Amino acid sequence: MLELADIRKSYRLGPVEVEVLKGIDLRVDAGDLMSIMGPSGSGKSTLMNILGLLGRPTSGSYRLGGRDVSTMSDRELSAFRNEHIGFVFQSFNLLGHLTALENVALPLTYRGMGRRQAGRRAEEILEKVAMGDRLDHRPDQLSGGQKQRVAIARALAGTPSVVLADEPTGALDSNTADEVMQLLIRLNRDEGVAVVIITHDPVVSLLCRRQSLIRDGMLLDGSAEMAESGAP
Ligand SMILES: Nc1ncnc2c1ncn2[C@@H]1O[C@H](COP(=O)(O)OP(=O)(O)OP(=O)(O)O)[C@@H](O)[C@H]1O
Ligand SMILES: [Mg+2]
Repeated sequence: MLELADIRKSYRLGPVEVEVLKGIDLRVDAGDLMSIMGPSGSGKSTLMNILGLLGRPTSGSYRLGGRDVSTMSDRELSAFRNEHIGFVFQSFNLLGHLTALENVALPLTYRGMGRRQAGRRAEEILEKVAMGDRLDHRPDQLSGGQKQRVAIARALAGTPSVVLADEPTGALDSNTADEVMQLLIRLNRDEGVAVVIITHDPVVSLLCRRQSLIRDGMLLDGSAEMAESGAP
């Protein structure tokens, strides 16, 4: 479904060029549930931006949904992003003046869905994340965990191929974090959507079937290494 080969990313700051990603190979299949850990500044968000078509790599190839995305124009990329990627952020990124229902429905209308149909789809998916009784609440009338459930509903509403979550539990206490993880696990299982979670929390990482680590610009994929060595 998604495949990176020898992805490199450098940033230039004045005369200094810093290579953050030094040849990342990664394959994510439909239904995967994967964590990415790594020290601060190791390039996790940089990798997430590339996966999410928000940033282009300096070199390397990226195939998503059968297409080579490196040849796409910015306009094609944003349409492709809308179709394939759902985002969940640490700070929820909900629009404060909109209700839960409107926050989930709005991106659907951007994709050309009629308002009424988008409202129905938003309600259906909010019910799936147990927020059906909070449709008309604005973000400031919701708890942190509830806000993240709305953000997860928004990410899933357009039936993406993959949900990319950058520290989705980073702003939550441990009980709420666990609820949000159980929700992501259930949606991954029931909806078959691939989920990639960046986290600093080893407990969150251990809940994922596949675990990986960025270190020195390289991605160490625990499950792939186990598979290669013949372990079950
Ligand atoms: N736009 C930019 N210009 C220059 N350097 C950048 C830019 N964005 C990120 N970097 C550098 O790239 C490195 C990786 O940053 P990134 O945000 O990917 O790290 P991270 O692993 O997500 O860290 P954290 O855990 O703190 O969120 C850092 O050293 C950062 O300073
Ligand atoms: Mg980051």
